[in-house]
Amino acid sequence: MPHADTIEHGLASAAPEAAPPFGVYIHWPFCLSKCPYCDFNSHVRHARIDEERFVRAFAAEIAATASRIGHRVVSTMFFGGGTPSLMAPTTVGAILDAVARHWTIAPDAEVTLEANPTSVEATRFRGYRTAGVNRVSLGVQALDDAALKGLGRLHSVREALDAVAIARAVFDRYSFDLIYARPEQTLAAWRAELAQAIDEAAEHLSLYQLTIEAETPFAALHAAGKLKVPDHEHARALYDVTQEICAAHGLPAYEVSNHARPRAECRHNLVYWRGDEYAGIGPGAHGRLDIDGARHAVATEKRPESWLMRVEARGHGITIDDVLTRGERADEFLLMGLRLAEGIAPERYAALAGRPLDPARIAMLRQHGLIEIDPGGRLRVTAEGFPVLDAIVADLAA
Ligand SMILES: C[S@@+](CC[C@H](N)C(=O)[O-])C[C@H]1O[C@@H](n2cnc3c(N)ncnc32)[C@H](O)[C@@H]1O
Ligand code: SF4
Repeated sequence: MPHADTIEHGLASAAPEAAPPFGVYIHWPFCLSKCPYCDFNSHVRHARIDEERFVRAFAAEIAATASRIGHRVVSTMFFGGGTPSLMAPTTVGAILDAVARHWTIAPDAEVTLEANPTSVEATRFRGYRTAGVNRVSLGVQALDDAALKGLGRLHSVREALDAVAIARAVFDRYSFDLIYARPEQTLAAWRAELAQAIDEAAEHLSLYQLTIEAETPFAALHAAGKLKVPDHEHARALYDVTQEICAAHGLPAYEVSNHARPRAECRHNLVYWRGDEYAGIGPGAHGRLDIDGARHAVATEKRPESWLMRVEARGHGITIDDVLTRGERADEFLLMGLRLAEGIAPERYAALAGRPLDPARIAMLRQHGLIEIDPGGRLRVTAEGFPVLDAIVADLAA
């Protein structure tokens, strides 16, 4: 019998009178080593991290945000990084307590923690669950030891699968990430790897195509011709196989890189993609806050130690606080919403922008089979359109 929580976590379960979604993102900016492909705000420190000091700063920033926006019902929380699974469970618990002091955490709130799948980190999973985490997202990245080595990962396939098994035993919900379109990856090898991943997955998988990010070691190797990534055609074939295999196994894409069984989508990420409100807490965190009817785009100082000092001096680490214009807000809604298979409600775009989307552009994109209007009137990108999503958004937003 499904657990009651699993039912309540479903997408369609929100009662009509439920509070609007509100997410809290907490950024833990440290990693044991820096992966050569990664440009996230993550840092390696050899000295011990003073977690108590960070907890005090997180609590201060949560208090400062609450004093700006007032009361909220928190529907989702996400501990991301960096490597949040390096935090002691008591640190995670203390941050959750700080959130609960200022806002109401919904009884069915989804609380996700991103974890690296090493054996040491898996030993903390029970502690996280006791602290209030109910979902983990594991960075498995590859089910091939040579590929893991090439990606600079610190874990083996065996270790990652053991961590997945522990996650399965401890949490009602778990997901893991794989990176594909890796150097030398053949279609046949990816098919086999994906089939194995689906056997290990429960309800959710994140499958990212390797991107070469500026100023990473991979970017330097790529520029020097020492790292060959799949060409456009091969990458497209890998993408197509991904869609086909996942859909055939009941894990269709609900977003460009995210696959889930129906009602098992990551509710926190849906907050971003549906244009709902969220607070970003910690170094380099982004937030979208509604204050006096205006949408604020907020971001904090990225460098962990500078962020700490800023928070200790002023109570928050905010370095950017822009009020979005109607046009900016509508464009952001389009950019995020069209990533989702469910698409967007054109009337919401019109309400935000103060004008509807251009009917001539819609007609042209429909004619090319890149977008469609579903029976409920929602505008969605088609399977043909997803590989050229950026161009579609640029065209509609223009
Ligand atoms: C915040 S990151 C990492 C979380 C965790 N520290 C880990 O490494 O397992 C979230 C995910 O983004 C993906 N990612 C990071 N850099 C990428 C890149 N250059 N190309 C594709 N995927 C990437 C990885 O799959 C990673 O698990
Ligand atoms: S991929 Fe994960 S572990 Fe590697 S540097 Fe980025 S955040 Fe850290």
